[in-house]
Amino acid sequence: MTDKTILRALRGERLDTPPVWLMRQAGRYLPEYRATRAQAGDFLKLCYNPELAAEVTLQPIRRFGFDAAILFADILLLPQALGVPLWFETGEGPRLTPVTTPEGLAQLRAPADVHETLAPIYETVKILKRELPKDTTLIGFAGAPWTVASYVVAGRGTPGQEPAHALKAQDRATFAALIDLITEATVEYLSAQVVAGAEVIKLFDSWAGTLQGADFDDFAVAPTRKIIAALKERHPGLPIIAFPREAGARYEGFARATGADCVALDNSVSADWAATHVQKDGCVQGNLDPKLMVEGGPRLTSEAKRIVQAFKGGAHIFNLGHGITPEANPDHVTQLMEAIRG
Ligand code: CP3
Repeated sequence: MTDKTILRALRGERLDTPPVWLMRQAGRYLPEYRATRAQAGDFLKLCYNPELAAEVTLQPIRRFGFDAAILFADILLLPQALGVPLWFETGEGPRLTPVTTPEGLAQLRAPADVHETLAPIYETVKILKRELPKDTTLIGFAGAPWTVASYVVAGRGTPGQEPAHALKAQDRATFAALIDLITEATVEYLSAQVVAGAEVIKLFDSWAGTLQGADFDDFAVAPTRKIIAALKERHPGLPIIAFPREAGARYEGFARATGADCVALDNSVSADWAATHVQKDGCVQGNLDPKLMVEGGPRLTSEAKRIVQAFKGGAHIFNLGHGITPEANPDHVTQLMEAIRG
């Protein structure tokens, strides 16, 4: 039996002090991250350099003592491993060569072939397994298929990932085949992370909130459910966190519909609503507005305490509603930790 706080919360246990980690906790707000990224050359080189990727994963653990470390990588490495060219435009974000046709889809690699490209990521996990403090939980992750597909179709981030919505409307068969390929490849990728030493898996569906009605069931719920079922079959008892960002009312029932052990909440839903409608099905995570990590001040402390209070009746992992931004002040993270742990 393990006593790691995050694993206890994921089993549904209520803890007096919630365990805490932050999305994008390894990132540009930390000077030591910027230095290591410069040493690696660029962001993608950093992702594929196991020693340096492990180093940036450990940096926020050393500095703040979070309860979990999240593997340093990116959700877009998976489509890259499937054969979609990927690069990052400085100051703008990711770019991929769009795949929008049956011909383009046919040129991609098979799910089991992703390991060739992704082997360094598994190496990072192995290093972390060795180097992390014994009470720190190691989280592996991938993007959920809808979110990954939305970047593959658009070739970039857009305000509402409209190109993917358009392909879904115009050529549903091609779109569904792309989702299926990503779903299968994601199972392979995450399973290899678990074999290498990841203790918890998180699925990021950052664009889930743009799916309406039956589309939400078909492309947010169904692929997530398939991945979770396949992973739990291969790795019984593996805890899984799902993040259907901006799902709004659809947060209710998401854990039951997908088999997730924990649902991560963005900051557009109210903590009191989520305590009643989401936490009844298991652990919840998240909800603090990432802007507060830039602003700091008394509102950071009072909002953090309000969220802890709202979720004190059940299992809860403290986190932000989305990633910490490059403008955040590291001192505000220290302030947050004091507000939570007292
Ligand atoms: O959370 C962590 O610390 C672990 C590592 C991690 C990164 N990206 C590193 C990263 C994780 C879990 C992600 C997930 C990710 N990547 C998502 C889902 C979560 C979300 O933010 O909605 C998405 C949509 C991506 C794709 C992606 N990667 C985008 C859109 C961008 C550009 C935006 C930005 O913040 O610059 C990235 C780049 C990225 N991924 C950075 C980091 C630390 C910044 C790159 C840099 O250092 O220059």
